Amino acid sequence: TRDLLIAPSILSADFGALRADVAAAAEAGGDWIHIDVMDGHFVPNISFGPIVVQAIRPATPKVFDVHLMIAPTDPYLAAFAEAGADVITVHVEAGPHVHRSLQAIRALGKKAGVALNPGTPAEAIAPLLDDVDLVLAMTVNPGFGGQAFIAPVVEKIRRIAALVGDRPIDIEVDGGVTPQTAPLVVEAGANVLVAGSAAFKGGQSAYAGNIAAIRRAA
Ligand code: DX5
Ligand code: ZN
Repeated sequence: TRDLLIAPSILSADFGALRADVAAAAEAGGDWIHIDVMDGHFVPNISFGPIVVQAIRPATPKVFDVHLMIAPTDPYLAAFAEAGADVITVHVEAGPHVHRSLQAIRALGKKAGVALNPGTPAEAIAPLLDDVDLVLAMTVNPGFGGQAFIAPVVEKIRRIAALVGDRPIDIEVDGGVTPQTAPLVVEAGANVLVAGSAAFKGGQSAYAGNIAAIRRAA
């Protein structure tokens, strides 16, 4: 039984006042801060790089969960570690040498995650289980907030949970998580729920209620 954690995704935050908005999401009860890095190459959108992670690091001592949607990944791992990442997740689809990336993240003293796009089978994690601290199942095709939850991924989460077994590996879900979809993925075995639009909607005074609603529903 892994701890249930809610990770607000700052892709839906106010980029004009990002550090303050990250602090607000943390104070509103977010357990981890989910940080989406996009390169306009691996995904069809561009967000930000390590200097922005470093700029928001003072906002909260909570875990910085950095989701790299970039290819290649390896040239940038040290920069994200130095910028204050605690968990660094790379996509299994992002390059031909995923063990090398995962081992490099651990060698930097950080937790290593592997992410799977919706179309990638659960079995892709089988050879990686000794090298990961977290498996991220995407429930949208990465690139944008506010997309619709891809429901067939729920069965895949069940297979991921079976492959993980009782290892100390977090199972995270990202994309379209709301109070409606949260119970489906938790029942399938997920314990870390990323929420972008569902966490940040309605302005800062709504964040605590938004996060609590997801936690309650899960
Ligand atoms: C999508 C990102 C997500 C995104 C989720 O590419 O990886 O973390 O912020 O946004 P919602 O929760 O709005 O689907
Ligand atoms: Zn993400």
